[in-house]
Amino acid sequence: MSIDISPLRLGSLTINFPAIQAALSGYSDLPMRMISRKFGAEFTISEVLLDQFIVSVSRRKSRFYFVGEGERPCGAQIMGNDPEVMCRAVGRLIEVGFDLIDLNFACPVKKVLSRGRGGWLLSEPEVAIGIIERVSRAIGGVIPLTIKLRKGFDETSRSRENFFKILDAAVNLGVCGVTVHGRTVKQRYEGESDWVFVREVKEYLLGRGDSGVAVIGSGDLFDAETAVFRLRNSGVDGVALARGAIGNPWIFRNIKSILEGRELPNPPTIEEQKEILNLHFELAENLYGESRAATNMRAFAVYYSKLHPNMPQVRADFIKVKNSTDWNNVLKKWY
Ligand SMILES: Cc1cc2nc3c(=O)[nH]c(=O)nc-3n(C[C@H](O)[C@H](O)[C@H](O)COP(=O)(O)O)c2cc1C
Repeated sequence: MSIDISPLRLGSLTINFPAIQAALSGYSDLPMRMISRKFGAEFTISEVLLDQFIVSVSRRKSRFYFVGEGERPCGAQIMGNDPEVMCRAVGRLIEVGFDLIDLNFACPVKKVLSRGRGGWLLSEPEVAIGIIERVSRAIGGVIPLTIKLRKGFDETSRSRENFFKILDAAVNLGVCGVTVHGRTVKQRYEGESDWVFVREVKEYLLGRGDSGVAVIGSGDLFDAETAVFRLRNSGVDGVALARGAIGNPWIFRNIKSILEGRELPNPPTIEEQKEILNLHFELAENLYGESRAATNMRAFAVYYSKLHPNMPQVRADFIKVKNSTDWNNVLKKWY
């Protein structure tokens, strides 16, 4: 029996399949997004982009923030701490065709925190709110604006207050969706994601009368069954597939099958894996050129190899890949 799930609405965007491709630094580039889309993801988000990078990078390098043909709607996620620079960056992202802007107040990387960006802003609600206000004004309703938050900076009650302060202000300023990763910044990736908190955020917004503000849940979605369980049981409007989708785009197809009441498809055969590895490499090569594609694909291949019965050996061979010849040799040997 199919499961009745409403479309995910993010302002003017209606996304019929509520499992989206999460923002993933080092991964959710154009090739990964295209592959996820092939398996059913209808909405994808770029890797987090630094505002200063966007405003300073030449047109030639704009392939790093690029919307491909046939990959819309696609959101761009940005990070920064100077509203002026962030607004200029947002202008460029709209120009190149992104359909939504997502502000990152979640990144736990040390260097990011030490520069007052990403997750650091969860401890500086006034700065975060100032950014949302300026960016929202700069976008002027042309495309939707969303934010990405972690549960808080840490587990203190002050952090919790800051979270809801930012959320309240964001909603008042017209933000139409919030992705919530149920871990604190301090926690990084340790422990379990707190889905009780994610549910609480949705209930809080409903209590405020903001049923139109979407909540997208994130954390520990490593298989289709768990993603569907979270979708049904936490009241969220959507789920963001992150680590669970790296080297495993089939997760989107599996989620779709469950939602449509069909049997879970068999895991991809070696042949099917090979086809997608080839396609992924080709997309990366088209975008980056051969040498960078090989480096880029090594990171994905480590994950793809998990589906292979000879995982340790396949992985070891992929790690040594330096160019397309090496890549093809690994495929010939193992696939
Ligand atoms: C390698 C890696 C890169 C990430 N990059 C981003 C990013 O650029 N922007 C973002 O909002 N979250 C980023 N995240 C967080 C994920 O989007 C997600 O919220 C988190 O991994 C929890 O989901 P999961 O447990 O299902 O992986 C990243 C996570 C990982 C592991």
